[in-house]
Amino acid sequence: MVDKPTYEELEQRLKQLDQEVVKRRQAEEEKKKVEAQLIQAQKMEAIGSLAGGIAHDFNNTLQVILGYAELLEINNKKEDPEKGYLEVIKKSAQRATEMTKQLLIFSRKVESELGPISLNQEVLKDQSLLRRTISPMIDIELNLAENLYIINADPVQVSQIIMNLAVNSRDAMPDGGKLIFETKNIILDEKYCRVNLEAVPRKYVLLGVSDTGHGMDENTLEHIFEPFYTTKKKGEGTGLGLSMVYGIVKNHGGHITCDSNPGHGTVFNIYFPALEDR
Ligand SMILES: Nc1ncnc2c1ncn2[C@@H]1O[C@H](COP(=O)(O)OP(=O)(O)OP(=O)(O)O)[C@@H](O)[C@H]1O
Ligand SMILES: [Mg+2]
Repeated sequence: MVDKPTYEELEQRLKQLDQEVVKRRQAEEEKKKVEAQLIQAQKMEAIGSLAGGIAHDFNNTLQVILGYAELLEINNKKEDPEKGYLEVIKKSAQRATEMTKQLLIFSRKVESELGPISLNQEVLKDQSLLRRTISPMIDIELNLAENLYIINADPVQVSQIIMNLAVNSRDAMPDGGKLIFETKNIILDEKYCRVNLEAVPRKYVLLGVSDTGHGMDENTLEHIFEPFYTTKKKGEGTGLGLSMVYGIVKNHGGHITCDSNPGHGTVFNIYFPALEDR
């Protein structure tokens, strides 16, 4: 005859079962997270190649329009009343060219001019422009770690990332707030990369940009990197800022994440691979 388990043994078994349920639930959540990331990555890849193809041909067509508008302008007499029309044609074609360039950056059809740089220096270089662009009601805080690894990056594109993120933060804080830049060395390990498919385990330099703005809901968060996705009023945003950021980060072999909650601000973390992966 088998002995009846004691109270303590039963308690122990229940605890074990409980832990197993928690573990299984965690594994399932991880699986769901990874599946969602796979779908997201495929979607971005598809949008990227579609946008890249259109933007390339569109850009060529726009150059023809601009070229002929310029020829007409040269032949035009100063007092010609149609000179104004030509100006409008040129301005519109230039604006469209700018948009196609941004789309080309998103779809990674623009080469990055990579070289060894210090991320801190880039963040510091952009400060004077930032102070001029951002209202004095917003405090800018810099938490820059010392002895950062050197990264292999295009300084112009790093600056584009900084400006695009900062302008978005500014727009999310119309009544003022705090904009924080952070840099530090960080290692993304196997465990992290198992649930963040776009990251590879290695050493990185982190650029964190956070704000105390109005934040975003889950639905917005799902779409922020898609070209032309904007929640701003017509004429106030094209929805290409974060698409460019995404394309640049990918071109640098980097990884980007965004955490945000309505009413609780936003944090963007960008991981640039360290040049020397010692
Ligand atoms: N820091 C932030 N706080 C709250 N919402 C943000 C933040 N950054 C981005 N967003 C949301 O993501 C959307 C897309 O941003 P993105 O920079 O791509 O386009 P945009 O700012 O609307 O237009 P553009 O940058 O082309 O002028 C924004 O419209 C906004 O809803
Ligand atoms: Mg923007």
